[in-house]
Amino acid sequence: MSVLRVGPQYATVFASIHANAFALKEAWSVGAFQVQLEMHGVIGLLEPRGGLALIRVTADEAELLTIAVTRSARRQGLGRALLTEAMRIASGLGAAAMFLEVGFRNAAARALYAEMGFVQVGNRRGYYANGEDALVLRAPLSGALAPVATS
Ligand SMILES: CC(C)(COP(=O)(O)OP(=O)(O)OC[C@H]1O[C@@H](n2cnc3c(N)ncnc32)[C@H](O)[C@@H]1OP(=O)(O)O)[C@@H](O)C(=O)NCCC(=O)NCCS
Repeated sequence: MSVLRVGPQYATVFASIHANAFALKEAWSVGAFQVQLEMHGVIGLLEPRGGLALIRVTADEAELLTIAVTRSARRQGLGRALLTEAMRIASGLGAAAMFLEVGFRNAAARALYAEMGFVQVGNRRGYYANGEDALVLRAPLSGALAPVATS
């Protein structure tokens, strides 16, 4: 499994993977990826067989902005590899936790996130255009210090 860290020159590749993975209205454009990949704190990860992840790391928190694997490349471990690398990089940059939003009915993504240690910390009702709720999930990052006991 090879996950590469890439910059804005991969915006077209990212948009093409995203368009394959998501429904038309949910896919991000080349321009949207270009802007994101140029932003301070945003890191793009590419799995050349057809996967991407985008994270933003700010101070001690990280956010998974998007993750996508093309339909024909699914269930081969690309999503897990991308998320593992995203969490490793965020932890290395000092983030103590990673947050993300996922559709309530997105069983595949929810199963992947649960496996990677994400738990629900919030619920945004009717967040998506189709009225679906978004669950807010959080995972501690391995490099983070354990909370100090106060008793
Ligand atoms: C979610 C997504 C990125 C997963 O990518 P993937 O490469 O297929 O995932 P992996 O092969 O690494 O799967 C890792 C684990 O996640 C779980 N999982 C993944 N897809 C699943 C599915 N369809 N049903 C149930 N569990 C699933 C399994 O536990 C799997 O391990 P296993 O294959 O050993 O059983 C992919 O389905 C996708 O791109 N979906 C569309 C875009 C999307 O919804 N992105 C997330 C938005 S929040």
